[in-house]
Amino acid sequence: MKKQFPENFLWGVAYSSHQVEGNNVNNDWWEWEKKGKTKEKSGWACDSWNRYLIDHKLVEDLGCNSFRISLEWSRIEPQEDEFSEEALEHYKKVLIDLEKRGIKRVVTLFHWTLPIWFAEKYGWHHPQSSEIFERYCKKVIDFLGSEIDMFLTINEPRLILNRGYLKGDFPPGKYNPFLFFEARKNLVEGHKKCFDVVKKKKPNLPVGITQFCSDFRWRSKSRFFKRITERVEDFYNWNFFNKLDGKFDFVGINYYSGYRFGMKPPFIEIFKPNNITTEMGWGIHPDGLQEIIKNAWRRYGKPIYILENGIADGEDAYRTKFIESHVKAIQNAIGEGADVRGYFYWSLLDNFEWCEGFSKKFGLCEVDFETMERKPRRSYYAYQDIIKKNKIKNNK
Ligand code: FCB
Repeated sequence: MKKQFPENFLWGVAYSSHQVEGNNVNNDWWEWEKKGKTKEKSGWACDSWNRYLIDHKLVEDLGCNSFRISLEWSRIEPQEDEFSEEALEHYKKVLIDLEKRGIKRVVTLFHWTLPIWFAEKYGWHHPQSSEIFERYCKKVIDFLGSEIDMFLTINEPRLILNRGYLKGDFPPGKYNPFLFFEARKNLVEGHKKCFDVVKKKKPNLPVGITQFCSDFRWRSKSRFFKRITERVEDFYNWNFFNKLDGKFDFVGINYYSGYRFGMKPPFIEIFKPNNITTEMGWGIHPDGLQEIIKNAWRRYGKPIYILENGIADGEDAYRTKFIESHVKAIQNAIGEGADVRGYFYWSLLDNFEWCEGFSKKFGLCEVDFETMERKPRRSYYAYQDIIKKNKIKNNK
């Protein structure tokens, strides 16, 4: 097996608008936060709207050749069909600055937050929602398309749908299978329409989605249970991709951990092969990533990018090992023939972790939310070393 990663491999980090920008008070999550549905409110978050140059310098010093960010729809289209030049100009500056630093720009159009007007009048379960999303996409591509290197329409449809329409702990807070299927149909349509918009206006810009993928295992080795597990995997990880009629140029994977099923209580549990529990209550299970990549490659034969992978670990006790072991899993998958082209650690900064507020520390850099000072953790330097050498330490 090759010691090093392919020469053009993308080494990156990721964050999203609502989790870092601050003062995003025109979207549905802010409304959700005001209703007390999250442990804390996002407030000024990391103030990255104003401090993005500081963040970019951290990405550059880390040695990354790419950075995944998202655009805040509620800033770009604050009222229905009224677009803000100011917000678009802001993102243009952000993207041009990254380009100057030699950093490829991976941009997500919709990372979970919806303008209030859209959430109130439409929502993803509304039949017109995909057209409205397409109009937003057109504006973005016209204005920013030349400054984007890789384009993601939707972040993790699985979570938007499951948590927004079945579990109800994300906006719009529904428990309604009928609306779940409506919303899924419209998200699929929305993506496909945006794919066509990009292909018409910027044919060379790669377009896709990124999905929250989990590893699923059954405690027993029986073939019957293996089948059931495959069905579950198919539904959660791949079902959305399967509906896109091939309208994606790459497979985006966000991977954190896995589940294990059994016939005895607790029936479903989070898989913790080494008994370590992260701050999110998840396990550390790099083999699962290798398995998912293998499946993605077998199913679609398209380039694969790991667009999120990270650990909430305020003490920074496990993060270095976490990154090394997951990078190793990717290397193994490449060794087995999969075309993996990038790895993005989630996240550059500690930030607003949705329902969990600020309590879960995913950052390579710690943030003091009083002063907004960013301080690289030890793991920041460990990741820097991997990137610099384009390989994992001691990986002979
Ligand atoms: C993913 C989300 C991302 C972040 C991480 C921890 O599901 O895409 O915004 O919250 O989890």
